[in-house]
Amino acid sequence: MITLVVAMGLNREIGIDNQLPWHLPKDLKHFKEITSNHPIIMGRKTYESIGKPLPNRTNIVVSRKKDWFEEGILIVGSLKEALKFAQKIDEDIFIIGGGNIFEQTMDIADQLEVTEIKTTIDADTFFPKIDEKIWMKTAETCHEKDEKNNFDFCFQTYKKAK
Ligand SMILES: NC(=O)c1ccc[n+]([C@@H]2O[C@H](COP(=O)([O-])OP(=O)(O)OC[C@H]3O[C@@H](n4cnc5c(N)ncnc54)[C@H](OP(=O)(O)O)[C@@H]3O)[C@@H](O)[C@H]2O)c1
Repeated sequence: MITLVVAMGLNREIGIDNQLPWHLPKDLKHFKEITSNHPIIMGRKTYESIGKPLPNRTNIVVSRKKDWFEEGILIVGSLKEALKFAQKIDEDIFIIGGGNIFEQTMDIADQLEVTEIKTTIDADTFFPKIDEKIWMKTAETCHEKDEKNNFDFCFQTYKKAK
């Protein structure tokens, strides 16, 4: 099972200046719960934006750069290779971005774990359109903003319609 995990605004905004456009601790906790103990695949820019390997998960980073080495991550030269390694580790694989990697993996994904953040915000990176002919929303839980989380948001699961 290949799952894309994303937090996006109402216009599918996901990033600006190689960072997240918001700080939502509840979403980071949710992300940790979903992905811990499973392999995660990400693009080189997303890895650099996080700045360190995420603990308790095999971090697989896709890059075309030669001679790039970082401690604690597996660097591969293609998505195909990333998936091949991930499948050896676990049957549940999580692709965590960014925009470039999401564009290339929507077609092969089985499931989307979306945090829909109820705002529009400045962004330079976006999630692809979720085609309702292909994707069916199967679960949703919503949360209101509070003193630490500045926006209302909903956790949503989409599965590929059969
Ligand atoms: N809101 C969210 O859920 C979320 C999640 C993740 C990221 N983000 C945001 O998204 C932004 C980053 O996304 P992005 O689209 O700019 O970059 P990205 O998808 O993270 O990384 C792109 C890089 O990945 C490598 N790459 C992509 N496809 C490849 C392939 N087929 N084979 C080999 N290497 C490949 C290339 O690295 P090289 O240039 O090294 O060759 C490319 O420059 C940031 O703002 C980040 O904060 C948001």
